[in-house]
Amino acid sequence: MGNTSGDGNKPRNFDDAATSWDDEPRRVRLASEVAAAIRAEVGVTRYMTALDYGCGTGLVTLCLQPHVGTITGADTSDGMLQVLREKVASRGVANVATVHLEPDQETFPSESFDLLVSSMTLHHVEDVAKLLVEFYRILRPGGVLAIADLDAEDGSFHGHGLAAAHSGFDRERMRVMLVKAGFRGIRDTTAATVEKNDAAAEIRTYTVFLMTAEK
Ligand SMILES: C[S@@+](CC[C@H](N)C(=O)[O-])C[C@H]1O[C@@H](n2cnc3c(N)ncnc32)[C@H](O)[C@@H]1O
Repeated sequence: MGNTSGDGNKPRNFDDAATSWDDEPRRVRLASEVAAAIRAEVGVTRYMTALDYGCGTGLVTLCLQPHVGTITGADTSDGMLQVLREKVASRGVANVATVHLEPDQETFPSESFDLLVSSMTLHHVEDVAKLLVEFYRILRPGGVLAIADLDAEDGSFHGHGLAAAHSGFDRERMRVMLVKAGFRGIRDTTAATVEKNDAAAEIRTYTVFLMTAEK
């Protein structure tokens, strides 16, 4: 499933991309559509303690922030987190925290969150099955996981010399991994479509799924 080896493509440097990340309207639109889909599929309430894993500049975090009790944006990129911190400060928002993650390091105590969302991040994570087990551990009993990511694609989504760990996901394989991690009540829907130019400058359409699951 991975596509980082042998093709000369490199993972994106998110620190370098951070300050201009939000300049791309399709990213802002996608995050807004993903957040709307999460709210449509999950009973999001102001009593919830939420985590946005791989929050980036907080595009999804800040769409959900008015509707939850607290939300923590967690990311491996300090550059992305700094952009989110600046947005939080300029908006005077009080219920958003940020956490810098070291890859593969357990950071959160068990059973900390009612809602765990992750949008467009899992395709950058090598060992997704292991991460899902970690997600299960840090959700409270009855807590909900909401994953938005690319449906399986041909590797053209990143293009331009960039690579990710996975070229999207087959929904059935994701479902199997979720069950193995302990999740139940798994549902999926199509949250959004993304149009991008491929290497030949042709417009390609990619679909983004939302899978929800309960602990
Ligand atoms: C495509 S961006 C998506 C950002 C945000 N979720 C959004 O929808 O706008 C992917 C994010 O995942 C982060 N990331 C990459 N690998 C990660 C990992 N192993 N653990 C946590 N975050 C990671 C990157 O730093 C980046 O901010």
